[in-house]
Amino acid sequence: MRPIIAGNWKMNGTLAAVQAYAAALQAADPAPLMIVCPPFPLLPAFAQALRASPIALGAQECHARPSGAHTGDVSADLLKEIGAGYVILGHSERRADHGETNADIAAKVAAALAADLTPIVCVGETEAQRDAGEATDIVRTQLRHSLPESFEGIVAYEPVWAIGTGRTPSAADVTAMHADIRTALVTQFGDRGTKIPILYGGSVKPDNAATLLALPDVGGALVGGASLKAADFLAIAAGAPSV
Ligand code: PGA
Repeated sequence: MRPIIAGNWKMNGTLAAVQAYAAALQAADPAPLMIVCPPFPLLPAFAQALRASPIALGAQECHARPSGAHTGDVSADLLKEIGAGYVILGHSERRADHGETNADIAAKVAAALAADLTPIVCVGETEAQRDAGEATDIVRTQLRHSLPESFEGIVAYEPVWAIGTGRTPSAADVTAMHADIRTALVTQFGDRGTKIPILYGGSVKPDNAATLLALPDVGGALVGGASLKAADFLAIAAGAPSV
């Protein structure tokens, strides 16, 4: 499978930065599939800057309903219309800051699929849950209840304690969790579950990317802070194994 390197800008970035960033990515012509997920208002500028480019565009969130009285929310159909092909759903910051439940996320995933967007669904345990030996159970439960029966897309394993902290799990822990996620996906979806890419996310940087991306069943990375600089994001992509 071609590695996938997705950049989650979170609530960062400016309109002024879009052109140079998009140009740097296009000029590099990276081997992995690269997906840029900026804040909503930057999507049209990115769509314009990346048109006719293999660099893909994603949003960080969508609503479960196609339209209606939902102040401040954005529908999957509109994201599709303005040029997004992907949408991150169930990020731990959404789960924590907005109280999103697994059921909420499953409904958003279904909406994304109905709009022909590819969902990137995040799962991962907190530090307390890992210390209590619950990491595997937590992630299995998130997968079982956040992914609807019709699921097709990407899963990202993001241990909450590794996000933005500069800490990453050991290679053995990432390997074990990705193997467990693969088993869960196959149990849930049969043959389809063998093909779902599983990204790792949480403090992926240029200096640890090659190690993390070489681990079994790590199909790519979901990158936060280090995706904000095009050079760092590209350096991470350069660490992906060639296929
Ligand atoms: P980080 O964020 O790379 O800054 O740790 C990853 C994420 O939250 O997707």
